[in-house]
Parts: sequence; structure tokens; C-alpha cells
Amino acid sequence: MTKKIRKAVFPVAGLGTRFLPATKAIPKEMLTIVDRPVVQHVVDEARAAGIEHFVFVTGRNKAVIEDHFDMAYELDDTLQKRGKAKELAALKHDLPAAGATSFTRQQAPLGLGHAVWCARDIVGDEPFALLLPDMLHHGGKGCLAEMIEAYERHGGNHIAVAPVPDDQTHQYGIVGVEDASAKVSRITGMVEKPAKGTAPSNLHISGRYILQPSIFELLARQEKGAGGEIQLTDSMIALQEKEPFFAVRFDGAIYDTGSKIGFLAANVAYALEREDLGPQLRAEIARMTG
Ligand code: G1P
Repeated sequence: MTKKIRKAVFPVAGLGTRFLPATKAIPKEMLTIVDRPVVQHVVDEARAAGIEHFVFVTGRNKAVIEDHFDMAYELDDTLQKRGKAKELAALKHDLPAAGATSFTRQQAPLGLGHAVWCARDIVGDEPFALLLPDMLHHGGKGCLAEMIEAYERHGGNHIAVAPVPDDQTHQYGIVGVEDASAKVSRITGMVEKPAKGTAPSNLHISGRYILQPSIFELLARQEKGAGGEIQLTDSMIALQEKEPFFAVRFDGAIYDTGSKIGFLAANVAYALEREDLGPQLRAEIARMTG
């Protein structure tokens, strides 16, 4: 029997310099894909996978994320008085249960490994999910739901992967696997941001993880890796010597909303799927590009 994955960690401390000036006063995670903040989409994915507790590793100037996941009492009251039942129901639906969120701060931008380590006490001694909010995974029953299925079958640690063009492997963590065509395959090696031409495969780590709590002992070493940052991948490499790691191939669409193109593409893709926006947007795009 595997231990249930109850908690998910969302590292949301990044500065968002690629989106300045939009992110001067607004966290990048609050930029919207259609009408939902990026971070809300990722929390939706975690909820759909059965996650019960949402742990946010925030930083300075991120307080608005905490407000977003709280009840907005005055707003609810105003909507109620104005008879906006639909809007009210939508807000209620999205609101996490009381006590189901935790917030801690990464005091300095020391890397993803450091951000995850900041969540150690809140996660405690149980396996947990980790979702990088920049990366939207779209399609099927949801990336994390697929990973939890694989975890329930195999136990151990899991990383979502997807192929990228060979000339982009140096931008990501890359894994080598036993069988690149399988949905779930044993990981044989990992490397963070391999130099061009040295990647063991073209399967990139796409920002979804299921990790055993033993990762925290390794992260506690706080050793710096690629780019002078404390890298999560380096601790996963060390953990792989002791525990099994599996790659779960995600076949849906992945949008890196931390890049402008990824952000714009996600907005178009998500809007095109909406009944209330899709047909009109399609017509607008045809007019603009025709
Ligand atoms: C991080 C991870 C990397 C992963 C990527 C996905 O890198 O370290 O392994 O492939 O996220 O977005 P970052 O984007 O923080 O440089």
C-alpha cells in the first residue's frame, strides 16, 4: 500500500523579471490565462488529482496570492446583495476548505531546491506532490492525476516528462529512461540544464513531481549546482541512488507561461476551448491573420 498523496507544494517566490513591467507590483503567478490566474489553474489540477492541502512557498510582494485563496467576505456580500448567484457560486467552488492552505516564505531566491526545502515542516514525513506554476499541463484527466495513478501502482518517486526539440534540452532538467516510448518508465539518469549536445535524451522535466520526504534530508545540504542555485534535480539524482524514480510521460499540451510565447499561446488555447469565447476569438484571429 502506498501512502496517499495529500499535500501539494507550489513554489511561487520567483521574481518574474521576464514579464516586467507587468510583474512590478503583481506576482507573475497572478497573471491571467483567460480569466483565471496562472496559479489557480495549477491548483485546479491538484484538486482534480485529490490533493487536500495546498502549500505555497511565497516571497516578498506575494501577499495577494494568499488573498486570492481566501474568502473575500465583502465581495461575497456585495455579489449576494446584487443577486449575482453565478459569480458567487463560482467563487465558492474555487475556495479551498478552511485550513487547507499553508503559506511559508523563501527568504532569498536561492533556487528551486531551496524553495522546496522551505516547505519541509509543513509537508512533514509523507510523500507529496510538487507543481511548478509556470508550467501549465492541459489535457486528459490532468497531469498530476495521471502521476498519482502511476504512483499508486509503483510507489517511489515520479517526475512528469515530455519530449522537447533537441535544441531546447539545455533549458531544462532532462531524464534518461529505460523505455522512452512507455507511459511510465524507470528513470536511469537525470541532469539539470545539460550543455548543448550532451543531453541523455530529449525528455524534459516538465514541472510536476511526486517525491518521498527523504528528499528533504538531501535538500538540507544546500549544495549549489547549475547556475549557482540550489537545484532540486541534484538532490533527486542523489535520492535516485537509494529509491526508485519513474518518468510519467504527459501527452497533453504543456505551456511554459514563464515565457511570453508560452503565456500567449496558453491564453489562446484555453480561450478557444471555451464555449463563451471560442467561436468569437476564432473569428477575430481569422480576421487578424487572414
Ligand atoms: C526548473 C527545473 C527543471 C525543469 C523546469 C521546468 O527549472 O529545475 O529541471 O525542467 O523547471 O520548467 P527552471 O525553469 O526553474 O530554470
